[in-house]
Amino acid sequence: MTQTHWNDVGIDYDKVLGTDASNVALLSAAVDLLPRDAKDVLDIGSGTGRLTSMVREALPGSEIVGIDPAPNMVQAAEEKFADDSGASFTGGTVEDLSQFADNSFDVAITSFALHHLELDTYDKSAAEILRVLRPGGRFVNADQFCRVMGPAGSPERALDVLDLLTAKARHYLLHASFERMLLQVDLLPRFMREDGEILTTPEYWADALSRAGFRSVTIVPTPPEELMNRVIWAEKP
Ligand SMILES: C[S@@+](CC[C@H](N)C(=O)[O-])C[C@H]1O[C@@H](n2cnc3c(N)ncnc32)[C@H](O)[C@@H]1O
Repeated sequence: MTQTHWNDVGIDYDKVLGTDASNVALLSAAVDLLPRDAKDVLDIGSGTGRLTSMVREALPGSEIVGIDPAPNMVQAAEEKFADDSGASFTGGTVEDLSQFADNSFDVAITSFALHHLELDTYDKSAAEILRVLRPGGRFVNADQFCRVMGPAGSPERALDVLDLLTAKARHYLLHASFERMLLQVDLLPRFMREDGEILTTPEYWADALSRAGFRSVTIVPTPPEELMNRVIWAEKP
């Protein structure tokens, strides 16, 4: 299975991210896009289950399955939801959803996870999400994006990503917490090298969804817009 540095994240992730109103706004915007009658929900890159909790609250009658390649994340989520029979968690990646049958879910949702994908896996991942959704089913991707793409070392991309990420670090220091700023700064070399943290433009994801056969592909900015947090949603015909 895909290796991810998130298996060894050495912080209280929920506490640190909870200080960040921009992240809460992003996840809330994603949950607001869920059809209220959705029953079977797939949470891709479920991590510690922060988004899972919000989905369970918004759709109390739903059954949600979280997948994540990091065993420590799966364990943390299982512990958090030990008393909730409506949520279960398993190892897995978006690139290979073969553990799920075609047409299994009303909704596939994901937050802050798909920017870990290698660029050449977007088409495969979009096709897998389409396959496991029911006709009319909805995909909702809340994530962070960038403005300029290119080879990791290209000055144009490197300068733009550096500007974006340092602006984000400043924003977190002023409006979230010291720890949230430190998380951003600690991850900076990975973002610059495109080592497990690979920003794309929102259009790059939207194009992959359209190529896979999704319709109504829509990009929604969430505040503050300059941080480049976006929700991208689309429907299976
Ligand atoms: C920053 S955490 C976000 C977790 C949660 N969705 C949230 O918003 O709090 C990103 C998660 O994506 C997972 N991940 C990394 N690569 C993935 C992949 N290829 N498919 C699915 N999840 C992946 C990581 O293991 C990690 O738990």
